[in-house]
Amino acid sequence: MSENQYLLEMLDIEKTFPGVKALDHAKLQLRSGTVHALMGENGAGKSTLMKCLFGIYTRDSGTITMDGKPVTFTSPRDALDNGVAMVHQELNQVLRRNVMENMWLGRFPTTKIGTVDTRKMYADTKAVFEKLEIDVDPKQIIGELSVSKRQMVEIAKAVSYDARILVLDEPTSSLTEDEVEHLFRIMNRLTAEGVGIIYISHKMDEILRISDDVTIMRDGQWIATKSAAELTKEEIIRLMVGREMTNQFPPKNNEIGEVLLDVKDFSGMYEPTCHHVNFQLHRGEVLGVAGLVGSRRTELLNTLFGYFTKGGGSVEMNGKPINNVTTDEARKNGFALITEERRATGIFGENTITFNATIANVDTYGKPLLNGKKMDKDTDWVIDSIKVKTPSKKTHIKSLSGGNQQKVIIGRWLLTQPDVLLLDEPTRGIDVGAKYEIYQLILNLAEQGKGVMMVSSEMPELLGICDRILVMSNGQLAGIVERGKDFGDIPGEQETIMALAAKYV
Ligand SMILES: Nc1ncnc2c1ncn2[C@@H]1O[C@H](COP(=O)(O)OP(=O)(O)OP(=O)(O)O)[C@@H](O)[C@H]1O
Ligand SMILES: [Mg+2]
Repeated sequence: MSENQYLLEMLDIEKTFPGVKALDHAKLQLRSGTVHALMGENGAGKSTLMKCLFGIYTRDSGTITMDGKPVTFTSPRDALDNGVAMVHQELNQVLRRNVMENMWLGRFPTTKIGTVDTRKMYADTKAVFEKLEIDVDPKQIIGELSVSKRQMVEIAKAVSYDARILVLDEPTSSLTEDEVEHLFRIMNRLTAEGVGIIYISHKMDEILRISDDVTIMRDGQWIATKSAAELTKEEIIRLMVGREMTNQFPPKNNEIGEVLLDVKDFSGMYEPTCHHVNFQLHRGEVLGVAGLVGSRRTELLNTLFGYFTKGGGSVEMNGKPINNVTTDEARKNGFALITEERRATGIFGENTITFNATIANVDTYGKPLLNGKKMDKDTDWVIDSIKVKTPSKKTHIKSLSGGNQQKVIIGRWLLTQPDVLLLDEPTRGIDVGAKYEIYQLILNLAEQGKGVMMVSSEMPELLGICDRILVMSNGQLAGIVERGKDFGDIPGEQETIMALAAKYV
């Protein structure tokens, strides 16, 4: 093998969908035994490029070579048979089936008489899990596992093909910190064996830590490939968005007003949940919620929204007691909740952007006939204000990139003009440019006197836009950190929060 021979080389790849040129002379050169990060804004063409490799899409033109030999895979099966495996951005699992059936779907081992050899399937699954140190029962129904465990199973499945090229499309978006470390150990082991890994992520720190090379795409085009060692965060952002982005956060002009929500001794009914939480949310305030994974931040928001059952305590809104017994009631009380798993739960794939953007607001479009003009106007607002990349409003949402689908769902809830906006990991899977737009929209709502609560695992974003931060620890409120007092101007704010987060663990 000559020195400049790549394990995988994709050159001049082009792919056009109706109304979009998704790939335009895209390029990727993967060396064996390395992690190659693929970066770019939402809709830049990362997933499409990988689907052209994996035989899901047929490229319009361009060449793909493995070890210098031209290849074209006509289906995922074909790609897998030739040493290429892929973990998709969206989990595609059969929820009613158990873990091992999902692992070996389409390649069940059979006995001599032609029946499925469940004993072998169990043993093989166990063996893969043991090798990768994954603690999951192969016989458990997959729908009963947490999203992060399901993600780990999907990764194990890809590894089980013994591929020479492994594509991971945003594998860590729902993993806990420990699981991310775990995944990185698995990746190191694979690269040591000579596997080449293509790693797609929006998490800058992870990229700089784990990857050897970085390729940046913009608008379907190859922009640059550099060694990770010579790149900085700022440089990556500049290459991704095509301009200097000096500020990651918009300026804050919101003013804290009267008490909007007064939450007293608030608990959920069913474990795992939050217990005896006391806090106030003011008009005009952005209140962050920090904590380790499992600290019940999501449970707190979901219980406030009436999605999970309340166990005790009280909530007053504008001085009057309210009881969000159901989510419908919460909505009528002016609450909106943007969930962590919005892509799994909130998308009507076969429907248009307009439908998906306006569905939560449908009451305001009049009866008996819906006011199409207003719906169009509102949809345009969503597309413009969060920069949704789509050929038109009539496009089916499932043909948008993963990040752009999420933006539509966020827009859907912003359209309802909630008085209390509850956000769970609002910028997960969203590119840096669009994050800025989302921060701006959050701050705009606060400036209008609304109250915002935001759960986030990204400390810089909590510190960047929140006025105060609730720190949850093991279901309890460990403390409230105030801007300007405990952070902002004073260094060490991050340590204060981390210490509180560990208080009851
Ligand atoms: N099946 C499809 N039909 C029509 N258009 C598509 C389809 N798949 C992707 N596109 C379009 O191709 C472009 C690139 O999308 P792609 O999913 O590759 O982006 P991405 O870089 O993976 O973004 P993200 O970070 O949001 O996942 C987008 O404009 C998207 O709308
Ligand atoms: Mg993608």
